[in-house]
Amino acid sequence: KNEINIGLLGFGVVGSGVAKILNDHRIDLQHKLGVPVSIKKVLIKDKSKKRDTILDPEVFTTSLDEILNDPTIDLIVEVMGGITEGKEAIELSLNAGKGVVTANKDVMAESGHDLLRLADENKCDLFYEASVGGGIPLIRTMEDGLASDRITALTGIINGTTNFILTKMKYEKMSYEDALAEATELGFAEADPSSDVDGIDAARKMVILASLAFSMEVKLDDVFVRGMKDIKDGDLELAAGLGYTVKMVGSAEMDEGGIAVSVEPVLFPDSHPLATVNNEYNAVYIYGDAVGETMFYGPGAGSLPTATSITADVIAACRNLLLGVNGKRLHASQHERKLKEDCD
Ligand code: NDP
Ligand code: HSE
Repeated sequence: KNEINIGLLGFGVVGSGVAKILNDHRIDLQHKLGVPVSIKKVLIKDKSKKRDTILDPEVFTTSLDEILNDPTIDLIVEVMGGITEGKEAIELSLNAGKGVVTANKDVMAESGHDLLRLADENKCDLFYEASVGGGIPLIRTMEDGLASDRITALTGIINGTTNFILTKMKYEKMSYEDALAEATELGFAEADPSSDVDGIDAARKMVILASLAFSMEVKLDDVFVRGMKDIKDGDLELAAGLGYTVKMVGSAEMDEGGIAVSVEPVLFPDSHPLATVNNEYNAVYIYGDAVGETMFYGPGAGSLPTATSITADVIAACRNLLLGVNGKRLHASQHERKLKEDCD
């Protein structure tokens, strides 16, 4: 192969960030991979929308088939979102023999196990680093960095929108509505922001993280969820007066009785590191039997941070394609489940 061509599904907050990084860092990427990486086609919904981009207008299409039937497209980057359309696009891409990089936590939380199996069957890669923690490499940390350890618990702030709202309400006395509007304007909130404020987005991320941490198929129904609505007027001020900060926190814990996974508002003393994580930033503590306590911190939402994780996955997938080992590296969770199935 002397080039890698990408089919980009979606050109919104994240998709335009991916295009920017692939353009701005193209020389670095070419040095890393030895071949150029280009966006060949971009799937969008509305062709009449004005787009601020250096991409040739000819690359934009509303036909997924046009992208999937293009034999020169090697890899699909799915950043259009949506549970039904997103899942279908990933399935069709894998069935067309194209590797996929996705940021779609909704789909990965609900159907990740099946999709990873489908990727395996089609000998394709499926990477999803951007689905949790925006620009923080949490999935790789769980799959590789801490692979030798026995993870016992994890806890942290994994939704940028709610953290942004809580920060603005506490420090700038902004109303909930204004803070949510600003988070939406900045591109942090989901298409339907109720999934952020009701804790569902964080619950889906906990499903992904807990499944990796404990090598089991955790389901959304397994997660106890309380959203921001349980924070009443005056709660933040009352807490602040007592030296506490309210944060929306996801937690997962394993003990001999099983696992407990939750998302809920939690009070932290102001001196606690999680109390100091502000705006759209995320932070996650991971507790390992051997490593002890580790903490990962960084931007949890937004165009370029999320696109950084996507393009890291693109590099991994390109390397595999160039080495001819795409789809041959089972994901850690897949591998462990396969071993369990072989034992049964
Ligand atoms: P946006 O709404 O900004 O962009 C969505 C893009 O996908 C748009 O270009 C839209 O087209 C296109 N699109 C949507 N549905 C279809 C469809 N049915 N057919 C064709 N094109 C379609 O979303 P984001 O970029 O914010 O998010 C994308 C994904 O990334 C989601 O899964 C989200 O959960 C995830 N994510 C987002 C983060 C963030 O900070 N925003 C962070 C981490 C993950 P058009 O432009 O024509 O409307
Ligand atoms: N809406 C999500 C958030 C985007 O605010 O965290 C990043 O996954």
